[in-house]
Amino acid sequence: MIISVTNLKGGVGKSTLAQNLAVMLAKKGYSLCLADTDVEQQTSMKWSGVRSSIEASSVPEVPVFLINPDTISDQILNKLGKKYDLVIIDGTPALTELTTRIIIMSDLVLTPILASATDVWALDTFLKRYTEAQITKQAMGGTVELCVVLNKYNDRVNLDREIGETIKEMGVKLFDTKVSSRVAYKEATVQGLGVAELKDKSAKAEMEALTKEIEKTIKKLAKSKG
Ligand SMILES: Nc1ncnc2c1ncn2[C@@H]1O[C@H](COP(=O)(O)OP(=O)(O)OP(=O)(O)O)[C@@H](O)[C@H]1O
Ligand SMILES: [Mg+2]
Repeated sequence: MIISVTNLKGGVGKSTLAQNLAVMLAKKGYSLCLADTDVEQQTSMKWSGVRSSIEASSVPEVPVFLINPDTISDQILNKLGKKYDLVIIDGTPALTELTTRIIIMSDLVLTPILASATDVWALDTFLKRYTEAQITKQAMGGTVELCVVLNKYNDRVNLDREIGETIKEMGVKLFDTKVSSRVAYKEATVQGLGVAELKDKSAKAEMEALTKEIEKTIKKLAKSKG
């Protein structure tokens, strides 16, 4: 199964979400890897470099691979997809042809967005791209599901709640779990960890809740795939 974390906007939490999801699912025993498609920033590769300096017995292994855009299909579909049960793709912040290819090869697209008008406008553009990719995939006999997750969300802010409603009105699936802005996410990144491996109980609990929703979606997709 291939899960991509992608959006055309930069800095919305793609890498943070991809890493935290990978850690959470690795702790649950899934056979998985992280595929870093951001060849310029290589955020997940750098995160992995820090993680590799941690004593191996104290954290589960999360293999991270840098993906060459020219050979992405071969690397993900033929190699990593066959070796691991789950490949989590950390996407690039651009509406390039690479983004389309990533969507087409995915079973599930997770799209983190921030609760702001500009992010909703950008989501609208991203959805058009997703719809085109979905048509292509369906013509090949497959399908790709898209779910949005609100990041750096503040439930006490009216505008944030309204943005959540607007997303639902757009007919897009929105996860019930919202990710708050927390120092723990920044700390986890610099330490090569996920919040599941830190002390902040609230961060851990929300990531656990989100992972459960994602697992439910994965199981449903696996069932429909047969
Ligand atoms: N929920 C959160 N709480 C606090 N900080 C966060 C949260 N999510 C992301 N961040 C921080 O926001 C910044 C951008 O996050 P991240 O690098 O994951 O975004 P991205 O979408 O992968 O960016 P890019 O488009 O540049 O690849 C980072 O400094 C990260 O630590
Ligand atoms: Mg990133």
